[in-house]
Amino acid sequence: MIRVTFTAPDGQATTIEAEDGQSVMQAAVAHDIDGIVGECGGAMMCATCHCYVDAAWTARTGGPSPDEAEMLEGAAAEVDDRSRLSCQIRLGPGLYGLVVHLPEEQM
Ligand code: FES
Repeated sequence: MIRVTFTAPDGQATTIEAEDGQSVMQAAVAHDIDGIVGECGGAMMCATCHCYVDAAWTARTGGPSPDEAEMLEGAAAEVDDRSRLSCQIRLGPGLYGLVVHLPEEQM
């Protein structure tokens, strides 16, 4: 299991145990995390899984691919250099303890 913490815009943090190999979006949806919708199911077609990777983790998650960056342009909330589509972040032991911040809005 991979521990992931989601921090809401109001600062409330929720920590879950995700399956190794799940995407961050799949883990969020499976645990009813408010703020991650995942409308397209991870096909990189919606941007409703936008999240901000905590600055301490961006080096390990890496940045968005060119296609992902293009889709992020359609995100409802402000996009910055921590922005990722959470369906494109695959969880594994190297991301144990990952912290992501949720945007103000997704749609
Ligand atoms: S779930 Fe649609 S782009 Fe991530």
